[in-house]
Parts: sequence; structure tokens; C-alpha cells
Amino acid sequence: MTVDISTLTLEQKASLLSGQDFWSSQPIPEVGIPSIVLTDGPHGIRRQDAESDHLGINDALPSTCFPPAVAVGSSWDPQIAAQVGAAVGREGLAFGVGVVLGPGVNIKRSPLCGRNFEYYSEDPLLSGVLATAHVNAMQDVGPGASVKHFAANNQEHERMRISADVDERTLREIYLPAFERVVTEAAPATVMASYNKINGVYASQNRWLLTDVLRTEWGFQGAVVSDWGAVSNRVAGVAAGMDLEMPGNGGGTDQEIVDAVRNGTLDERVVDESVRRVLALAARPTPSNGTLEVDAHHTLARTLAADSIVLLKNEDDALPVADVSRIAVIGPFATDPRFQGGGSSHINATRTDAALDTIRDHALERGITVEYATGFLLADGDEDTDARRAEAASTAARADIAIVFAGLSDREESEGFDRETLQLPAAQIDLIKAVAAVAPRTVVVLSNGGVVSLEGWHDDVDAIVEGWLLGQAGGSAIADVLFGVVNPSGHLAETIPLRLEDNPSWNNFPGEQGHVRYGEGVMVGYRHYETAGIPVRYPFGHGLSYTTFATTGLEIEQAGSDAVTVRVTVTNTGTRTGKHVVQLYVATDAGPVRRPARELRSFAKISLEPGHTETVELTLGRRAFAYWDVELSQWVVPAGEYRIQVGENVSTIVAEHSVTLEGDVVVRALTMASTVGDWFAHPVVGPALMAGMAEGLTEEQAQQAEQNPDALKMVESMPMQQFLTFTNGAFPLEMLEQLMALSTDEPANA
Ligand code: BGC
Repeated sequence: MTVDISTLTLEQKASLLSGQDFWSSQPIPEVGIPSIVLTDGPHGIRRQDAESDHLGINDALPSTCFPPAVAVGSSWDPQIAAQVGAAVGREGLAFGVGVVLGPGVNIKRSPLCGRNFEYYSEDPLLSGVLATAHVNAMQDVGPGASVKHFAANNQEHERMRISADVDERTLREIYLPAFERVVTEAAPATVMASYNKINGVYASQNRWLLTDVLRTEWGFQGAVVSDWGAVSNRVAGVAAGMDLEMPGNGGGTDQEIVDAVRNGTLDERVVDESVRRVLALAARPTPSNGTLEVDAHHTLARTLAADSIVLLKNEDDALPVADVSRIAVIGPFATDPRFQGGGSSHINATRTDAALDTIRDHALERGITVEYATGFLLADGDEDTDARRAEAASTAARADIAIVFAGLSDREESEGFDRETLQLPAAQIDLIKAVAAVAPRTVVVLSNGGVVSLEGWHDDVDAIVEGWLLGQAGGSAIADVLFGVVNPSGHLAETIPLRLEDNPSWNNFPGEQGHVRYGEGVMVGYRHYETAGIPVRYPFGHGLSYTTFATTGLEIEQAGSDAVTVRVTVTNTGTRTGKHVVQLYVATDAGPVRRPARELRSFAKISLEPGHTETVELTLGRRAFAYWDVELSQWVVPAGEYRIQVGENVSTIVAEHSVTLEGDVVVRALTMASTVGDWFAHPVVGPALMAGMAEGLTEEQAQQAEQNPDALKMVESMPMQQFLTFTNGAFPLEMLEQLMALSTDEPANA
């Protein structure tokens, strides 16, 4: 399709910049412009053929529900993310979908965000690496991606109008890097502008975000699509770089674009740019081919889910289930699994696996008896809570091991609203405690999209399996892990705190009077807990296995002034094949800004047979050491010492080496508001000033200055302007002005 834009009327061009309907772009058949289908995503295809909505209310055509991002995040495995992406891509092709909306790479700022199940992690590197793998794999198959929600959309409360008030260093270091990585390493077809405002300006009309950062800095070539209904001011949106308004509204706002061009408030060349990008999107080949591989994809969904499960606790090897003759399975999540979240990503699954069925299969093979009790109901107003709990307890008492399936229902968490508590419903906590009091061994399996508190019952049980939301085959995947058919290898992509109040966003979530202040800055999630030394229940990166691993031989090698190659050797010292995640953190105090105690800077997941050893090599580039300098508006690697740490999780460092980096030569232009300290520390001006001063001093004054270095310390923080008032003309303004001009001569090497 080649369309000469100059042959299109202004009205035609404006019409291309909004959707034809809920799920497709506007075609102009007479000039050969096709329509492209954009639909949710991201862990399955939600293709609606009848009543359309973006809230997941009306059923879509059946497709495979793969593990949502909360699960993929816990896999710490780009290959899992890539397999989800490729499989969703194949299903997209079968449905003729051109763009699958997602993945979501927003940071889990608060564990209460109702949509955390759709996001990967509280860490930008982990989120970005997984999303990049997903997008690359999906786009290789065919459909384009729509990385969302750009940006700082970290809560559901007032999501359509709240202003996320975030300082630039925090945006650059925490909330933007996952987007940046996907854009620069996977070239997504589209980026979705979020509903919220950022520092008072709607994301969908934020020129700094959509043009300066996304296009100019990161080189994004694709189209920006609005989140569904995120356009507030159409003309401001186009001017900012927001190309395609979705969903279509019958062309209602197109006239605004036409009028703005005609009255000179919008440059037609800007419209043309957007049209070009939308045409390039529509020109993406979207062959509607292939059939849904229902069985194969269900099997794949089971494998991917199993590798995402996190074994949190396993006292005395309570798991895998072995040497038992009777199992009690308790809780409605065992028969009626919760495997995905509510809202726009809701998939009409081709089938669902209930854990109880697969537990029975595995048990049958091993000659084990399984007995089931409901234990509690998910609905409110259960008048038989006590009876149900008593029945479950007596079932548990008869068994060798009790497995309680607990978790959150759709009513408790979903797109559209945030949670108010981390607690499991009280009836479930009572049940867990009642069962644990009588069962010889108790295992709790959790189904939840966001973190739930384990307090009040953690110490009563022997094992805890965090099953998150695992997609349609999750029930079987859980059974596979319980019986050791699969060795668990998931790790936490988010901290499980002891108390909600310990979370760094707590004082500023979900905001008030239209603003949510990201007051914790870069200290998000583990960055805060580690830096402030706040104990947590389970740290970021935690996850157990049925085997054991030893990490030895950490070697680091400097590769240039700001890159380091790291080698570490891992041995499977246990008796089962298992997967291990090498987690590499960097810790430093270098630079003029407060750095988190340590930050995840690289990772790799490997599989090892018992007794086998592998050496993993990871490279840390300059961004692993850099902070965003708000004065210079650039990344800076400060000179100093950096500790390269290998952790079993963020709190348990098992090997460490230091490296000293020369860092960047940073020269800040001096002004009269710069402090005396800045002036003397300046690499060019400092020595000149010193020499000038020395010349003007008598021998006695020079001696005094040498003997009393603290005198300089006292005035170090004084701005030069104020300092001058005390110096009696010793520093002529003319001389300082000359020095100021000198101060910008040497640029920083960014
Ligand atoms: C959600 C998006 C989704 C879109 C289309 C919006 O409400 O925020 O994530 O892709 O609807 O369903």
C-alpha cells in the first residue's frame, strides 16, 4: 500500500486519526487504505464479534488464556515471556488481529494497585527485559504490540484524570526504563498513551513524553495510540504526537482537527506526520491465517504456568508430596480456579484446568487417596462458615497432608479499582489456622493477582505456594509443582511486606484532590526496604526449589571505563534437575544523589541437572552504574566504587566484588548561585581561583588559610553571590565572570 498523502483531503486525513469503531482503524477503500484490528491482549486474544466493550464484560471468542504478566514476572525468564508472546501472536493471526494491546510494563508502585496482575514487577529492568522478549517474539510471528500504559499509570483509583506528580529522576530511573527498553530493543508497532496526567499534563497530550522522549530520544518509529477513551483534548493530542484516537467515536472529534488546521492553531504538517504513522500501521501485513492450536496451546500454557509458580516456604521438605496415603484438598479455588484478572484483558478461555482434577490424576498414579472439602465460600453472606470450616478441619485431620487453596476473588481485585487491604478474607485465614491446627502438614496455595499478606498464619503452615494468576492451565501447573513433576523455579518480582504501612508509597497512595505525589522518589519496592533496612516477609527475588544451588567463582573484569563483565559459576548441589536465577545487583554511594542500597542490573535463568555446573557471563553497561542527573538532563556515571553483588534474592547476597570506575567527566557550568564549594571543585575554574587567591594573599594570610582548612568548609555551601558580600572586593566581579565563561568549556561525556 503506497498512498500519496498529498492526494488526501484534510477531512480524510483527520478521519484516519481516529478509529472506525471499537476495535479497528479507519479505512479509506477508494484510495486503498485498509483497516487494522487492534484488540486486547496481552496474555491471550480478546476478539469480540458482537457487543464491544473495553471492560471485559461481553464474552469474546474463545482463545487460550496464557499466564498473565504477574506470573511471567515471577518466572524471571525471558524465554517464558517470548513463548507467551509468540503463542498470542499465532492466535492473533488466526483471528486476523493486527495489533494485540499490551504488554503492560507499568511498575508495581503499590501492592494495592488493582491491575498489578497485568504488570510484571516493581523493578524496571525485570519488567523491561520480559516485555522486550514478549514483543519481539509476538511481532516476529506477525501482530504488532502496543506497549502500555505510557506512562506513570500505577493505580486504578481516578486513573482517567489523576495527575501522577513525579520528579524527572524518578521517571527516568523507575517509570520509563521498561518502555525505553521495549522501544529501543523491540520496536513495538505502537505505544499506548495512558489515561492519567503526568505532572498536570494528560499523557495523551504530553509533548515532552510522546515526542521529546519517545521519538526524539528513543527513536520510536511507530504510532502512538490512545488508551480507550484517554483523549481529552484532540487537537492538543495531535500536536503532542498522539496519532490514533481509540476507540472510534463516529468521527466526532475529527472536525476539531480540521478546524484547528484551518484556523491556524494546528500545523498541517503535524497532522501529516501522524497520518504517515497510522498508514504505516495499517500497512502492516495481517494475514488472517492459521487455526487456533487449542490443545497444543493449552499444553504450552501449563508448562509456562508451572515455571512461574513461586515456592515461598517449604519447612522440612513438606513438598513435593511424597510418602503420604491421604491428601485433603480444601477450598473452592481448587475446583473453580481463579486464573486471570478482571477487566479489558479478560480472556474467554478455551478450557480451564481445576487443580483438584490433576491432583487426583497424580494421586491415582501414586496410589494416594484424595478427599475434598469446600472450607469456605467466596460469596458474601455464607451462613454456614463455621460448619464448613469444621468439616474441612475434620477432613484435614484424617489426612497426612492438607492443601488449602486460598486467594482473592474478582470482587477483591480488578482493573478499575484498587484494593484497600493486603489481607486475605477473614474466613480464609480462620480456615487456614483451623486446618493447620489439626493436619500433620499444611500447604497453602495462593491465587491472587496482587500481593497478599501472609501475616497471622504464615508460621502455622509448613509450605506456601504462590500461584498468582496462572492462566487457564494453572490448576494443572500447580498440581505438577505440588507433586514434584515440575521443580518450582519462580522468584518474587515484588516484595511481600510485613505490613502495608511499610510500603514506600503508603503515605502517598492513591493520592488526593486530583494528585498522587510519588514522594518516595526512586525508592520503590525493594529499593526502599533495602535502603531503609525495613524487614519484609519475603524479599524481592526470593523463591525456593526442590534442589539446591551453590554460587561460586565470581569474577569481574572491567571492559572500558564504564562497562563490566561478570562471570559466576552455579552448581546444582541437590538431587533434582532445577532452574536457577542468577541475580546481579549493583550497590554504590557514588555521585551527588541518594542511591538505593542496591539495584537489579542483570539476571539470567539457567537449567541444571544434579551435579552439573555452568558458568554464566553477564555484561553490565554504563546504565547499570548511572543515575539521571536533573541538572544536566542526562545519565551520569559518577566516579567511584561500585559493588557487584550476586544475590539469592535482593536481601541475601552470596558473592560480591568491587570495581572502581573512572566515571564521566562532569563539568557543570558555574553561576553566581553556584556555591563556593562548586567553584573550588570545578576542574578548570577551581585551580584558577585557587591560584588567583594565593597570589592575592600575604604570607601570613596564606599560612592562616593552610592552618585553618575548616574556614573554607564553613563557606563551602554559600552561594558565590552571597559570599562576595563578605569578601570586601577580594574577588572582582569581572574576574568571576571570566571564570564563569571558562566553566562551560569542557562538556560532560555522556
Ligand atoms: C485499558 C487498556 C485496554 C483498553 C482496550 C482500557 O480501559 O486501560 O489496557 O487495552 O481499555 O480494552
